[in-house]
Amino acid sequence: MLIGWIPLFPPRTLSYNLLQHMSRLSPDQLRSHRFFAPDDLRAFGHRSRHKQLGINNEEYKGKPVIAILNTWNDLLPCHSHFRQRAEEIKRGIWQAGGYPVEMPVMGLSETFMKPTSMLYRNMLAMEVEETLRAHPIDGAVLMGGCDKTVPALLMGAIMVDIPIVFMPGGAMMRASWRGEPLASGSDVWKYWAERGAGNLSCEDWEEFEDQITPGPGHCMTMGTASTMTSITETLGLTLPGASSIPAVHAAHSRMAAACGLRIVDMVWEDLKPSNYLTRKSFENAITADMAIGGSTNAIIHITALAKRAGVELPLELFDEISAKTPVLANLRPSGKYVMADFFDAGGLPALLNRIREHLHLDAPTVFGKTLGECLDGSEVYNNDVIRTLDNPVAKQGGTAILGGNLAPDGAVVKTSASTPEFLHHKGPAIVFKDYPDVQNRIHDPALGITENHVLIMQNAGPIGAPGIPESGMLPIPKYLLEKGVRDILRVSDARMSGTSYGTCVLHVSPEAAVGGPLALVEDGDLVELDLTNRKITLHVSDEELEKRRAAWTPPEKHYSRGYGKLFQDEVTQANEGCDFRFLHNDGSCTPDPGIH
Ligand code: FES
Repeated sequence: MLIGWIPLFPPRTLSYNLLQHMSRLSPDQLRSHRFFAPDDLRAFGHRSRHKQLGINNEEYKGKPVIAILNTWNDLLPCHSHFRQRAEEIKRGIWQAGGYPVEMPVMGLSETFMKPTSMLYRNMLAMEVEETLRAHPIDGAVLMGGCDKTVPALLMGAIMVDIPIVFMPGGAMMRASWRGEPLASGSDVWKYWAERGAGNLSCEDWEEFEDQITPGPGHCMTMGTASTMTSITETLGLTLPGASSIPAVHAAHSRMAAACGLRIVDMVWEDLKPSNYLTRKSFENAITADMAIGGSTNAIIHITALAKRAGVELPLELFDEISAKTPVLANLRPSGKYVMADFFDAGGLPALLNRIREHLHLDAPTVFGKTLGECLDGSEVYNNDVIRTLDNPVAKQGGTAILGGNLAPDGAVVKTSASTPEFLHHKGPAIVFKDYPDVQNRIHDPALGITENHVLIMQNAGPIGAPGIPESGMLPIPKYLLEKGVRDILRVSDARMSGTSYGTCVLHVSPEAAVGGPLALVEDGDLVELDLTNRKITLHVSDEELEKRRAAWTPPEKHYSRGYGKLFQDEVTQANEGCDFRFLHNDGSCTPDPGIH
């Protein structure tokens, strides 16, 4: 439905508006030219060492050098097809007259990395930035999919400001078990709860384990990976429709080759992220996030990306846009279907076309057309998967931003995946001082947790955990599961997986580990979630809170050296994007490595 749109040589399709801002570079204006062309000893070294690689000067002379940043590794199952895709991207680059160089960068495996892949998002971003800056590279194709790889690749590349195209990894195909469709992530939580309730045997569980992840690609729900790749497309950083193509579909291979074709022309056009990442494109990204019922993690990543691009996005803007944007994607965990169904129904272009009056259609894209031009003609083929405006999954966006005295700098709740009655709920707190405390005590019947209680977890934020892990969907006590309870109000400074669901107030800022009010909650305090007024309130007097604050001591820091220490010393709070302070865009960035 969409890849037929991608012509072999996209620059011939450039729209008039964009052409006005573009000039075409000549070969001697290429960044790589400075490395290879001069008659000096350094350039001699670059050329002779290329010959060591078996490459003659004629093979790359005067051609754009295109880096393929590949996040493949053997412990990143969501990217297991990336070696083949890298070859397909190379094919496109060669065909367009470029010179491809594959550069491996750190893959952030959501499932394998401990304590959490989020601890390493900023590390990959730094690696990407310096890899691009240090080498003779004129443009780059970024290969990502699994959750944190997407924002990390973009955060790094934006700072170098050379032409980039993002190749989204694509979602896994459909899975099923005993005739029932399965969704990675979401159904793991669901069936784990059933196992906790005693409804599944060990043998059942092993059989389920065989079926839940059917092949290459990222989680097939509208989890963080699909959310972030959809947002990347809306920002204009992918080819049109690219984010909805399943990983194993042949269209995915064709899209990879088209990325290679397109990036070469983008280099000649000198079309850089600073040309098209604007406040308007970020507002479009937030609108898309709300309409797809995207992951709460996206709020942290969009905030961080915008700061890198020099765009300020107050947290309230997410709520404003959420209030006027209906959720149209009927996808797990907020809805019923998975990403392969979304693709068959027309994918992201069809959904965005349906909400085009909510978007800035004049925002440019890497395709060389405006977003509006990219959406023209995109049709929805299944009105249950991509709902109509008069029959949305929810009338308002899937995520709400909260304030209140428990979260003075903000918190989020995924309303589309919550139990409606808990979105207005007041109950006594049961407090856990950190996640290990949850694991040790949550199933102890002596705690006497009821549906009316509010579970509080402290010290699970960026510094406290560390790395703000996805532990915010606190487990339901087994004795409540056995009674059929499947949700309860939970509040923490953690994140939760984009595939998770339940009434979980997340990203409470400031976090407990830096003395935020969350650190002062005690068992039995009344906590109230009031969605209508966007408030999470701790009903304890100011005097009593001051007394508790005077007695509070910060938890011990986790690291005394290495990257962990850098992280805990420099990371910002969730409402600021959890980036490192020293990586924010202060206007001093340049693609020039300073050595010629
Ligand atoms: Fe990679 Fe879910 S584990 S996207």
